[in-house]
Amino acid sequence: MSTVASNVYDKVAIRGRLLDIQQSVKQAAEIAQNLRYFEDGLLLIEHGIIQWCGAWQDGQAQLSAEFHVEHYPEQLIVPGFLDSHIHFPQTEMVGAYGEQLLTWLEQYTFPTEMKFSDRDYADKIAAFFIEELLRNGTTTALVFASVHPQSVDALFSAAQRYQMRIIAGKVMMDRHAPEALCDSAESAYRDSKALIEKWHGKGRNLYAITPRFAPTSSPEQLQVAGRLKAEYPDVYVHTHLSENHNEIQWVKELFPEHKNYLDVYHHYALTGSRSVFAHCVHLQDAEWQCLHDTDSAIAFCPSSNLFLGSGLFPLQKTWQHQVKVAVGTDIGAGTRFSQLHSLDQAYKVLQLQGYKLSALEALYHITLGAAKALDLDHCLGNFAVGKEADFVVLDLQATALQALRQQHSRGIEDALFALMIMGDDRNVQATYVLGQKVYDKAATA
Ligand code: GUN
Ligand code: ZN
Repeated sequence: MSTVASNVYDKVAIRGRLLDIQQSVKQAAEIAQNLRYFEDGLLLIEHGIIQWCGAWQDGQAQLSAEFHVEHYPEQLIVPGFLDSHIHFPQTEMVGAYGEQLLTWLEQYTFPTEMKFSDRDYADKIAAFFIEELLRNGTTTALVFASVHPQSVDALFSAAQRYQMRIIAGKVMMDRHAPEALCDSAESAYRDSKALIEKWHGKGRNLYAITPRFAPTSSPEQLQVAGRLKAEYPDVYVHTHLSENHNEIQWVKELFPEHKNYLDVYHHYALTGSRSVFAHCVHLQDAEWQCLHDTDSAIAFCPSSNLFLGSGLFPLQKTWQHQVKVAVGTDIGAGTRFSQLHSLDQAYKVLQLQGYKLSALEALYHITLGAAKALDLDHCLGNFAVGKEADFVVLDLQATALQALRQQHSRGIEDALFALMIMGDDRNVQATYVLGQKVYDKAATA
């Protein structure tokens, strides 16, 4: 087991190089003005909540003997990463060869997800999955389980062991999939409702109504998804949108009366400020406008979009249309759990479109901007007083090549850029959830 759960300390003080983004922004250029960096900083935490953040010099007088103090003189400490789109039952099938979306689903994904009818198997993979997220510095994720309600129980139970904030839901899917993976409109409604009652708002768990995508839900099922959202307005909606050209054509054929792909979800009242649409690679202008008007969010999954050959996501349009966006790994179409790796892939996706993704913008899309996209910026995303103390301690020199590169870095932004281009789980020294160390690389070496 790679993850360690340490003792619980009521009061924790973290000294080190602290970096966060203080305010959410309307344009990428504004991020730099909102950057906060303490070369020698101090974070004071009580019962998992940030009480104070500032320079060590200004804060050290507040330290009493009650504090458990940890000092990281070399490492960089940033808010825990958020992953806005990931499939836990696909953990074991990363790197499935040769196919694009629809055949990839048929040949690899559906057979794998069938295994999750077995609760013991789901428990085993859920434990691995949660530990892998923490090992990669990801402290919050929006997660697809499988169609089986017990897969959601397995996931939330595993997350709860670390008091980790997870948003997840049972897949709803009643057509165009193997029979063993299909529910019905009625059973999806009943099972999702029971899971919402059981898990939503319990500890740090949050529920997401999760129709897989329009092709695998009948109109009746999309209708009950909308009914659930109306009955429980503060649960999330999580699905896929406009990832692949064949998929988009299929939606057109299945729902000819709708203006476009997003209009299907919008018609069933599935858009909104807690709705997250994965991919959105090939949107029409009217769909951008609808995402903006409904305050819906996009999960940009560059590793997956490249792996499945889906296309190049135009990130610049999220700023133009003022649409919320966060980066996701989309395991198992994405190929790494590391959000640093996702940023490396994102940089290259945007290079191909003539857009320069700065290190600060990249960091924003996996911390504060992601928290905003997931409607969690009131409690996550930076070191503001009152927020939950989820953070990651990063070693910028985890390999010989990284060490050489960092010796030549030109300031903190360049150091961060080199980290995101060259970094991954090897750079995660420790991960903290609610102020408690839940992963320590040194303890597992
Ligand atoms: N669209 C529908 N289901 C899936 C899935 O499991 N992965 C991806 N990447 N796209 C999907
Ligand atoms: Zn996905």
